[in-house]
Amino acid sequence: MPYYKQAHGEDSNCVIISPSILSVEPKNLRKIIKELERCEVGSIHVDVMDGRFVPNVSYGVQVFSSIRRYAKVPLEVHLMVQDPSNHIKEFADAGADAIIIHYEASGNKNSILEEIRAFGKRSGIAINPETDFNSVKDHMKYADIILVMSVHPGFGGQKFIPDSLDKIKVARRLIDKGNSGTMIAVDGGINIETGKQACSCGADELVVGTAIINSKSISDSIKEFKKIRRMGKNIPN
Ligand code: DX5
Ligand code: ZN
Repeated sequence: MPYYKQAHGEDSNCVIISPSILSVEPKNLRKIIKELERCEVGSIHVDVMDGRFVPNVSYGVQVFSSIRRYAKVPLEVHLMVQDPSNHIKEFADAGADAIIIHYEASGNKNSILEEIRAFGKRSGIAINPETDFNSVKDHMKYADIILVMSVHPGFGGQKFIPDSLDKIKVARRLIDKGNSGTMIAVDGGINIETGKQACSCGADELVVGTAIINSKSISDSIKEFKKIRRMGKNIPN
């Protein structure tokens, strides 16, 4: 079944919510992931950082594998690493459902995206706030997901960069024109307000860290996020 339908059935206007677990303390990971599953989130967003592409270090494939053993929900891996080609096989073998690389990282992006697809996974390309959307245009046909970074990658809890909205609009226009079915995800500083703005510009998926994980009630906050509608003409893959 296509990933999008798996997440949201036939409701084509429902936005995909993908909570980022970056701010969850390791000892609470299992409990929180189980709670997110009960809330029927579309996927869980796992931020992998190598301390080179971004200053921080987060999880590697070992922690990811242990999450995979108990998590039933789709897992989306966001590789904030300098050399993504070294990591595709290990995360694919460890059971990632989607693997997102950065345009700004090294290596031939199209062949890495093809490699991800060859493993039967959804391929994604992320762009940093300072990168123009035109730079990634040529990679779009190899990507099932375009991840618009609405903060500088590396840390949770930052403020949404409003210029990201124009980038989402341009991506939406191009995708709808080409009928490619590439999904637009937005990552960084998403709360109900910025989430609504991003979706009204054409986002299909909201990656949400602190606004869900640090909220008073995870389930209430997810319920609110799920009320946001997406505007894209095509149902993403
Ligand atoms: C930032 C990460 C994000 C981040 C989102 O580098 O890619 O996924 O954890 O967290 P918030 O929603 O707090 O910005
Ligand atoms: Zn992320």
